[in-house]
Amino acid sequence: MLGHVRSIATLQVSLGWLLLSGLLVLKVAGAVAAVDSVTGNAGALQDEAQALWSGCRICHSTVEMQRGPMLEGLPSWYVLAQLEKFRKGVRGKDPDNKSEWLMGSAIQQFSQTNAWSNLAQWISRQPPAPGPRVIRGDREKGRQLYAACASCHGALGEGQAQLGGPPLNVQEDWYLREQMVKFKQGARGHHQADLGGIIMREAAQGLEKSDIDDLVAFLGHLRPKAQIQSENH
Ligand code: HEC
Ligand code: HEC
Repeated sequence: MLGHVRSIATLQVSLGWLLLSGLLVLKVAGAVAAVDSVTGNAGALQDEAQALWSGCRICHSTVEMQRGPMLEGLPSWYVLAQLEKFRKGVRGKDPDNKSEWLMGSAIQQFSQTNAWSNLAQWISRQPPAPGPRVIRGDREKGRQLYAACASCHGALGEGQAQLGGPPLNVQEDWYLREQMVKFKQGARGHHQADLGGIIMREAAQGLEKSDIDDLVAFLGHLRPKAQIQSENH
């Protein structure tokens, strides 16, 4: 797998950059949180976060058929970094990438960026939403392929904040697969300012469609146990 990545040297250089940018994101997020805790009234901030969240849930819940991914349990640094990407048009500007474009349009309605830090923290504290597994694949093969992903996403898919690698054990399998395909095809990770996306796009290059299914089948079983008790595959 890593053997498929075009150049290990390039990847290593990129990793250095990614580390820097990841730290920057963490720093910015920390600074925003610190300001909020000095100026804010905790109850009011919580209410504000919940009010905003109800707007997000128009798409980020199981209510709609054509919906966005469940976000509960994603770390606040990742949610914030992605919101920034959508705000700046680093993601969500390509009308051919329909679901991403939808989020790129929606972000215009949520322009109070000073509320984002609280919202992101609120999202990160919610338990990951249960969801059915819909992607079938060879879990054992997926486990082996995952060895090439673990350095950036954690041995158990718990995420690796310093490298900007989000957890992969909270999202639904269909969303993970969709994003892997987008990275592979260059529909995500194409903007020059999307450092994390570019690196991830590189990591997805050597994968066949069936590899992606196998990986996602494996990742589905890394989701917190409580969610999979009722499922039998
Ligand atoms: C009009 C529908 C819509 C609304 C409203 C909306 N989103 Fe989204 N969002 C989406 C879709 C669809 C995607 C998936 C994009 C893709 O497929 O690439 C997405 C993706 C995201 C992602 C990236 C997730 C990931 O794992 O990369 C984040 C973070 C996000 N939205 C946060 C929010 C927040 C926070 C709000 C409310 C302030 C919000 N969204 C409101 C439709 C919406
Ligand atoms: C060199 C580091 C690196 C490696 C190796 C890597 N990733 Fe990633 N991955 C990232 C980064 C960084 C992001 C976040 C991209 C962004 O900021 O938009 C990411 C994002 C993702 C996402 C999108 C998650 C979401 O919520 O939208 C998936 C799925 C993913 N990676 C799967 C994998 C799999 C599977 C492998 C192994 C085949 C892998 N990654 C290998 C760094 C890496």
